[in-house]
Amino acid sequence: MKMSSMMGDVAEVLITSEQITEKVREMGERITRDYAGERLLLVGVLRGAVVVMGDLMRCIDLPCEIDFMDISSYGSGTSSSGVVRILKDLEEDITGKHVLIVEDIIDTGLTLSYLRRSLMTRKPASLEICALLSKPTRRRVELDVKYLGFEVPDEFVVGYGLDYAGAYRNLPDICVLKKEVFDGTPA
Ligand code: IMP
Ligand code: MG
Repeated sequence: MKMSSMMGDVAEVLITSEQITEKVREMGERITRDYAGERLLLVGVLRGAVVVMGDLMRCIDLPCEIDFMDISSYGSGTSSSGVVRILKDLEEDITGKHVLIVEDIIDTGLTLSYLRRSLMTRKPASLEICALLSKPTRRRVELDVKYLGFEVPDEFVVGYGLDYAGAYRNLPDICVLKKEVFDGTPA
């Protein structure tokens, strides 16, 4: 797929890569201050959080480890099924560690609410959530998000790690796709 054809599917750029870079740097600075003197374990939720994880970890000036979990509440479509499955568990034992979950986007909140409860049973020293994006109008469960990048409207977004049917994760900006893309008809 050529870059030009991928951008051709984009209806609107919601958040530019420059805005993301600035926000991620701010979040990294806050995290660095809040966890000063501690070791941190960043837990990325595959696969969407891979891009923000890579940028965020380099903005954190602390000894830190990373680990990943794959947890799924979606098929390849755009609406939540409410069903959450652990597809890949952590490699690390998190007992007694300061754990920060890194997520790309919070939609209904069901995925992170489940993940949080599940990880709490392993007795971490602390457990907080960092999400680049949130769709507050879609929330179905209460969720305490300590570090949040941007709130976005109730629209399906792609880019900077976020996908539609596996594609568009490598777009540098956060974008809304043209309607035709979801209909399967050519743009
Ligand atoms: P939740 O359980 O409804 O909060 O769903 C969160 C997960 O759904 C995220 O980690 C994403 O993988 C996916 N998701 C939710 N909204 C979007 C979106 O607009 N674009 C891409 N993925 C999304
Ligand atoms: Mg995800």
